[in-house]
Amino acid sequence: MPIHGSGPFLWGASTAAHQTEGGNVNTDWWVNENSADPGHITEPSNDAADSYHRYKEEMALLASAGLNAYRFSVEWARIQPEPGLVSRAQLDHYRRMIDAARDLGLVPVVTLHHFTNPRWFADRGAWRAPDAAALFANYVDMVMPILDGVELVCTINEPNMAAILASENAIESLQAGMLPAGDQQVSHTLVDAHVAARSILRSAGKRVGWSVAGQAFQAEPGAEEIAKAYAYWREDFFLDAARDDDWLGVQAYTRTMIGPEGPRRAPVGAERTLTGWEYYPAALEHAVRNAWERSGGAPIYVTENGIATTDDQRRIDYTTGALEGLQRTIDDGIDVRGYLHWSALDNYEWGSYEPTFGLIAFNKQTFERTAKPSLAWLGAVARDHATRKTMAPALIEG
Ligand code: BGC
Repeated sequence: MPIHGSGPFLWGASTAAHQTEGGNVNTDWWVNENSADPGHITEPSNDAADSYHRYKEEMALLASAGLNAYRFSVEWARIQPEPGLVSRAQLDHYRRMIDAARDLGLVPVVTLHHFTNPRWFADRGAWRAPDAAALFANYVDMVMPILDGVELVCTINEPNMAAILASENAIESLQAGMLPAGDQQVSHTLVDAHVAARSILRSAGKRVGWSVAGQAFQAEPGAEEIAKAYAYWREDFFLDAARDDDWLGVQAYTRTMIGPEGPRRAPVGAERTLTGWEYYPAALEHAVRNAWERSGGAPIYVTENGIATTDDQRRIDYTTGALEGLQRTIDDGIDVRGYLHWSALDNYEWGSYEPTFGLIAFNKQTFERTAKPSLAWLGAVARDHATRKTMAPALIEG
């Protein structure tokens, strides 16, 4: 398997444990999803896509389409279901996933934390616990033995969203379409946890980064300073913290326009996706440029980018636009090393199964997977890129 850095551009897709595995009963999300309290999450994840048992099926579809990378997360709450317990069986499970990816020719990109916490960690205050960073580092030590053959490790997915989710009344604000600023104490703790994890992982030669949600904040004329301040605790703080990392993950979906009074709604008549976000493929280009600048030139992997839609042709259109923007960043000398689409398959979109982001659909009764045309299309883009060294997805028919 080629080791990336010297190896090929990564073309792949991403998932997260809680969104696909099913039965993730030891997480704080599961508790919330199944609580009767007001304000709880209404649609539970239940069996998700049963990827806990069927992960090979989506990996095989990605590989046979011509992709060469797969990003997935290992679930802390499975590996350490109680503070004093390390589950060997769960570690073995994730080791089998890594082997399956490698056997299929997919470079595994492993995320160690993707939004969910073990119940016991949440009970201690999660990232507010005084020893949160040390507890995370201890978990990273547990995972280390299974990471042989994994070169790229993402410590924490979207720490900016994790800090936002830790702010007061976060879920209510997000449901009302507002993005609260990330909690500052939690933001610092997340950096401490990341740095501690990074030093453990580097001791075994891993290349370590984290993936930040790029929100393409766009200032209206005169609102530049307001936009700058608005972006700091929602994105830029976390990009600045990646300066000493081996790589930086960029994730982008839509933009946020900032006027003199703060964030503005999308323009009247703008097309919206199933998440309600403005259809804006250029978000990726914006986010990559910002990440490159703030991090002082960290090598970039796009670790998520995609669209929630039932119209697969629209997924191809959106991705075409995003990749054209990505090519412009490369033409300008930005060191972009991979593009991993969100998502490999339709999944649990944090409270609802409605927004479908997948290149692969699954049947909710039988769990049977069906590749959408966009998967073959992305595979063709990848193959074309490998020969011509330029991304021109518009030339590939959907
Ligand atoms: C997250 C994913 C999520 C996706 C679409 C990112 O914020 O990392 O878990 O499903 O965006 O909302």
